[in-house]
Amino acid sequence: MSYLIALDQGTSSSRAIVFDREGRQLAKAQQEFRQIYPQPGWVEHDPQEIWTSQLATAREALRLSGLRPEQIASVGITNQRETTVLWHRATGAPLHHAIVWQDRRTEPLCHQLREQGLAPLVRERTGLVIDAYFSATKLRWLLDHIPGAREQARRGELAFGTVDSWLMWQLSGGRIHATDVSNASRTMLFDVHRNDWDDEILAALDIPREVLPAVHPSAHAFGHLDPQWLGAALPIGGVAGDQQAALFGQGCFKAGMAKNTYGTGCFTLMHLGERFQTSSNGLITTSAAQTGAQPEFALEGSVFIGGAVVQWLRDGLHAFPSSSDVESLAASVPDAGGVLFVPAFTGLGAPYWQPDARGAIVGLSRGSTMAHIARAALESIAFQSAALLQAMSRDAVAAGAAPVSELRVDGGACVNNLLMQFQADLLGIPVVRPRVIETTALGAAYLAGLSAGLYSGLEALGAHWQAERVFHPTLPRERALERMADWERAVRQTTAL
Ligand code: G3P
Repeated sequence: MSYLIALDQGTSSSRAIVFDREGRQLAKAQQEFRQIYPQPGWVEHDPQEIWTSQLATAREALRLSGLRPEQIASVGITNQRETTVLWHRATGAPLHHAIVWQDRRTEPLCHQLREQGLAPLVRERTGLVIDAYFSATKLRWLLDHIPGAREQARRGELAFGTVDSWLMWQLSGGRIHATDVSNASRTMLFDVHRNDWDDEILAALDIPREVLPAVHPSAHAFGHLDPQWLGAALPIGGVAGDQQAALFGQGCFKAGMAKNTYGTGCFTLMHLGERFQTSSNGLITTSAAQTGAQPEFALEGSVFIGGAVVQWLRDGLHAFPSSSDVESLAASVPDAGGVLFVPAFTGLGAPYWQPDARGAIVGLSRGSTMAHIARAALESIAFQSAALLQAMSRDAVAAGAAPVSELRVDGGACVNNLLMQFQADLLGIPVVRPRVIETTALGAAYLAGLSAGLYSGLEALGAHWQAERVFHPTLPRERALERMADWERAVRQTTAL
């Protein structure tokens, strides 16, 4: 009974990983599912495909581990956040495809809410800016556009959930309608100070409370699986949104500790401890994974185009056949030769917030080659992340705390040594890559293990975390600051396009 299974339901694939109590990975399964683009700017998933792919990977990972279901102490769930599902309580049937976090269809509604002067209230209660990214306006859109939905919702016949809630509902055979604080904090409907839904915001958006799930801490006895799925009534003991789960899996439990996940985009989070703080530098405040009733917070910023810039070089420019080729191509030149690449393909997020910016490659000379462009593309991931970290440190210092002193990294692209070294050089602080880079799944497993009593507390968990490699800054500080200034100049050019 000392093994844990984490279900990691991401934007492009569902994954399941079996861990032992020391956080070692025993088995892993992964399945991609369909991305649905009904119109430009709209992104949907079929909730049934989310569920069936997630179940299939859980079964496969368990099979590969060679364990019997009874040997699993607890199940952890972590998920793409904000993505919105609405279903019938009576049948479990979704009323519509899930509206994915990337979907921009509710921007006009957000504009209207800003015009109504709702932004300060939303900021104070939820820590967020009014944006189509979050679930609130997606749910409102569903209630507005599906005939009869609002009345059914008022009568308590419908259930709303982010993907964690949807999976728990399915896994429990319709017995659990719940979420955790970290996912709730991404809806823009949740008062992060009181850990409860906010009636004023619900009223402003005309969303009935009856549709909402119960909210619990992230480590909590949520309920049990229907035994038909994995062969035993396993408890669900941990739930967290994927970025907060990664922060937890990185052992960042205290104020000032930060992680960056290098995926398609990059998500940087810095723990704030129990102190709520809004950013003066374009970041949002979110609930961290919580092991008890006490609210805990994190500052968050995201880079829209991170690893995706490498995919673009591969598929758009046909620069190389496989993404992993980028490191050797970039390393074939000593530097980017003055080339700067700002991949503002979909505008720029924090700390710039320039939705109309578009990508640019600047500083080209007659001697520029694809290798220089590849190097500049890799560097752009580090430049954008460094700008976020600098914003976080400015916020920390303004609140009387110390700036970030170390960055823990995870996600696919953190295996790229060139990128990690450049990140450390720009930041002037050590960049630390842990032994286990599946920190999102690990965070969910740890939360589940805590509520199953497998660990004595956070200290015991923190002791599990081990560095695989530390990248120390080697670039003189003045040179790093010059490079950042060059980057900022290039960013300004993209907004002028
Ligand atoms: O906020 C969106 C984020 O949770 C998505 O993460 O890893 O599924 O792209 P990922």
